[in-house]
Amino acid sequence: MKIKILDDGDQREIDLYTREGLEEMSRLWVKTAAHHRLMYEPTWLGVPIIQLAEDIVMMQELIYKVKPDVIVETGVAHGGTAVFYASLLELIGKGKVIGVDIEIRKNNESNIKSHFLSKRIDLIQGSSVDPEILKQVRSRIKETDRVLVALDSNHSYDHVLKELESYAPLVSRDSYLVAMDGAQEWVWDIPAGKKEWKQDNPLRAIKEFLKDHPEWEADPHYNRFMITSSPLGFLRRVAV
Ligand SMILES: C[S@@+](CC[C@H](N)C(=O)[O-])C[C@H]1O[C@@H](n2cnc3c(N)ncnc32)[C@H](O)[C@@H]1O
Repeated sequence: MKIKILDDGDQREIDLYTREGLEEMSRLWVKTAAHHRLMYEPTWLGVPIIQLAEDIVMMQELIYKVKPDVIVETGVAHGGTAVFYASLLELIGKGKVIGVDIEIRKNNESNIKSHFLSKRIDLIQGSSVDPEILKQVRSRIKETDRVLVALDSNHSYDHVLKELESYAPLVSRDSYLVAMDGAQEWVWDIPAGKKEWKQDNPLRAIKEFLKDHPEWEADPHYNRFMITSSPLGFLRRVAV
């Protein structure tokens, strides 16, 4: 079977059952899913989580592998990912989530604080790149803690690059810095997309960060479903 793609005057034909076919279908699915806002559909233990199901499964694999003492998350929103990470830590039997958000709305805060997993979640309100907020995050981490970081706040190139530079030093050897939503680059041309996303996106920030940081490698294992919001987003610390 062949897929024929007609895109703005461009015409391509791809065999569906090749690797290229799978990659193209996955990218197309991510585009149409973003258009239909499917990432807003899931909930985790009753709390809305803004993620694609495949990425949720991949984070589960990653957290089980790393077994962190601390997961730092930037971008909490309703608290779905914070509760999801906390639920895995609860099953593993240790650890806490430090969630940073520039605006923690009252109803989200009270939902998170009244959740049965709230004992594993600390919230900090403020910009993730504000030095004062970073100081607060660092003060809640012990030197011996195994730390994993997930960046899911403002998805502009400048902000994500700043977050990568600021949070990378917190991550333990062989643990991960997950930079989410690089697929913003793929969806700039959907009907509600923005032309500037073509350049202004986390994926470009990740590529820039990797150029200057040989101690970090993108791990393709966690992108193997290809349906993802976070291409090249799972960065492993391979050296200190
Ligand atoms: C995509 S949502 C997070 C979704 C959440 N991680 C989940 O998957 O359910 C992005 C969040 O980042 C927050 N945000 C935006 N700019 C920020 C900044 N400079 N620092 C921290 N949080 C920020 C927004 O308030 C919003 O709640």
